[in-house]
Amino acid sequence: MLILLMTTSLFLGLVCGAQYDYGAYDHNRDAFRPGRFPDGFIWSTATASYQIEGGWDADGKGESIWDRFSHTPGKVDRGDTGDVACDSYNKYREDVQLITGMGLRYYRFSLSWTRIFPDGTSTSGPNQAGVDYYNNLINELVRNGVTPMVTLYHWDLPQNVQDTYGGWVSEGVVQHYNDYATFAFQTFGDRVRYWLTFNEPWAVCYVGYGLGMHAPGIQDERNSTYLCAHNILKAHAGAWHTYDRNFRADQSGQVSITLNSDWAEPRDPDRAADVMAADRFLQFYLGWFANPIYSETGDYPAVMKETMLAKSQAEGLRESRLPQFTQEEVNFIRGTSDFFGLNHYTTRIIEDNVVVGAAPGYTNDRDVAQYTAPEWTRAQSQWLYEVPWGLRRLLNFIKLNYGDPEVLVTENGRSDGDVTPPVMQDRNRICYYITYIDEVLKAISEDGVKVRAYTAWSLMDNFEWARGYTERFGLHYVDFNDPNRPRTAKQSAGVYRDIVANNGFPEGADVTRLAGNMWRGCRGAAVTTSANIALLVLSFIMAGIYGLIKM
Ligand code: BGC
Repeated sequence: MLILLMTTSLFLGLVCGAQYDYGAYDHNRDAFRPGRFPDGFIWSTATASYQIEGGWDADGKGESIWDRFSHTPGKVDRGDTGDVACDSYNKYREDVQLITGMGLRYYRFSLSWTRIFPDGTSTSGPNQAGVDYYNNLINELVRNGVTPMVTLYHWDLPQNVQDTYGGWVSEGVVQHYNDYATFAFQTFGDRVRYWLTFNEPWAVCYVGYGLGMHAPGIQDERNSTYLCAHNILKAHAGAWHTYDRNFRADQSGQVSITLNSDWAEPRDPDRAADVMAADRFLQFYLGWFANPIYSETGDYPAVMKETMLAKSQAEGLRESRLPQFTQEEVNFIRGTSDFFGLNHYTTRIIEDNVVVGAAPGYTNDRDVAQYTAPEWTRAQSQWLYEVPWGLRRLLNFIKLNYGDPEVLVTENGRSDGDVTPPVMQDRNRICYYITYIDEVLKAISEDGVKVRAYTAWSLMDNFEWARGYTERFGLHYVDFNDPNRPRTAKQSAGVYRDIVANNGFPEGADVTRLAGNMWRGCRGAAVTTSANIALLVLSFIMAGIYGLIKM
């Protein structure tokens, strides 16, 4: 009878996907923890040039790969483009008001390389109008007490550089990137405290040069993806050394890269193969870039080198498809960071999955299968499931594996759809922010992770890459049908402002009460608990009936 009961429960668990309780409310893991963030904690919000600026060919700006890509029919949903976007090229003063309206003293934005060097090279000198634009924006921020955090490369590579070199697959780009970075440090560095050399090289190289779903639309995850990463790592390190050598003494800013990663939870934590698979998934994701920069030994993660060599040999290749760094390059890249920049949105459940004969490329090279739990709420973005505790685990992974660095969370956020009427009382986004921010607090106060900053993505709705304007991540709503692109605060902007004003969730604050009251609904505690009870009762009944029949 007992065996029967257990089998039935297991069967139901498997069918309902609830075997390991990834989604069920777990009080120890998921309960709200009120408290304040450390003094001096940085609260910020972020955008990126192509996603907000518009003015795609204004005042001498050159064409970028995203201009070309979005102008190519079929590449972006509804044929949306960034031609006008939020029109921040003209409305940047209003943007600054939105930032100060939330009480923020930091703002992360990116420079458009082709607004400064229209063909990507410094040979014919900078485009003065582009330089003026960024000087105006930076001065406006500083005048309003906002410290700029500047990303040099948020995906909008000069089209000319793509055409001439094939883009990031070629080392030819590295010198041009360094010239551009040098110019930016020289021109804006007196007012910029934080620099990010690259935003999410994983997305650039996998989605842009592997899957081809982002610009430049190359579908070659077998080789281009890895070559792209190799050159971006060199370009990043070069820019960091340039700053370190020539600008740090005068400007005393900090330079790093922003890496993105999902958290990976083993499907069966008691099965060694799944535990190793989850780690492999993380090494191929975050470790691919973090290990060369942040680990003691430098270079790609050992598991990545071993897996790729074995796979390449099985394909009959003499050398690994994973490019190799010389020892000199390993030393050049290792340690090129002043903090750990992290973008995080979601989590995956990972199972070991070796598929023999699968098409070689980044996707299959990892030998994993990915799942999500049925209880996880999904945002509008098809990939974005809400799993707040994943962020805390990822922060701990970083602490453990990369020398306990100072971590700046440079993006975190949630999308709604482009619906009528628009979602202004954006309860789901509020849930997302309070639960994820609270996990950051737990990571700091309970686990001792040195998280120094939290950045909400995004200041306002904007061009969401291949999804165009169909997905809205903003704290502010933007009406893209109105030529004036008016911005209106969503409810989440007010809640974020209150969190910032209170430096978290101190006992007795209104925002703490609000978070406490919303918690149960946000984390689905009641729902999942009763669902689990129902499941258990059902399995007992079924086992009983089965037992009766048998007797
Ligand atoms: C990117 C942003 C993007 C956001 C939501 C991040 O990967 O840096 O540009 O809009 O995620 O997809």
